[in-house]
Amino acid sequence: MLIRLVRRLLLPLSTQCDRRKGGRGERIILPSLDAYAQWAASYPPHAHNALMQAEQTAMTALLPALAGQVVLDLACGTGRYGILAGGAGARSVIALDNSPAMLRANPLPIRAVATTEAIPLASDSVDVILCGLALGHLPRLAPSIGEIARVLKPGGCALVSDFHPFIYLNGARRTFTAPDGQTYAVEHHVHLYSDYHRAAADSGLRITAVREPRRDSAPIVIVYRFEKEAISSQPSAKW
Ligand SMILES: C[S@@+](CC[C@H](N)C(=O)[O-])C[C@H]1O[C@@H](n2cnc3c(N)ncnc32)[C@H](O)[C@@H]1O
Repeated sequence: MLIRLVRRLLLPLSTQCDRRKGGRGERIILPSLDAYAQWAASYPPHAHNALMQAEQTAMTALLPALAGQVVLDLACGTGRYGILAGGAGARSVIALDNSPAMLRANPLPIRAVATTEAIPLASDSVDVILCGLALGHLPRLAPSIGEIARVLKPGGCALVSDFHPFIYLNGARRTFTAPDGQTYAVEHHVHLYSDYHRAAADSGLRITAVREPRRDSAPIVIVYRFEKEAISSQPSAKW
């Protein structure tokens, strides 16, 4: 009964959430790189469905001031968060994604092909990292969270969002319709709060805020703010 109610509430989330799998009612699941190679041409750099709108509202509510900051739009896609950071006065915006197709559709001037697991930037070089709806595509969180921790400056922060595990476990899928008219689901891996917490703790980050925006009563995305401890300017205590 409860499961039926949750499914009914999530149905209006459009084709982004679809539990069929291709063939005879089953969707085909594509690896992320293959999926975005086909999706890029119709993936606008703004929140283009109800889930993304809820996610962006939660992300922006947790944003620090970006004016004068070095901002990394990690797994930038077509540039939604980098464009937002540029508009908020960031000193520089670096956009990285592992999909050449998504980057071709991205208007940001500083962009490069790179994976979240090997960020081609110096340690302690970025003030703010924005990573929207990407880490669920990866089987393991730890390498990406470790890289986020490495490139953040002491005192810096990262906002990371993910498809909420509850809706995935309830059958919702991230889907898109390719140019050939076929609807595909994109590879997704469930990461629970405890997984994010462990990855953060292991790499020296603190989770300082979590948001779980809901549609009707069901959480649809989860947003984390991670902070890297500032280096104290106080002399250490003498014993
Ligand atoms: C749902 S899209 C989100 C794009 C953008 N962050 C946004 O919120 O509009 C997910 C993006 O993550 C990228 N991605 C997936 N796995 C990645 C990885 N290992 N390294 C870098 N980017 C990755 C995809 O190519 C895609 O552009």
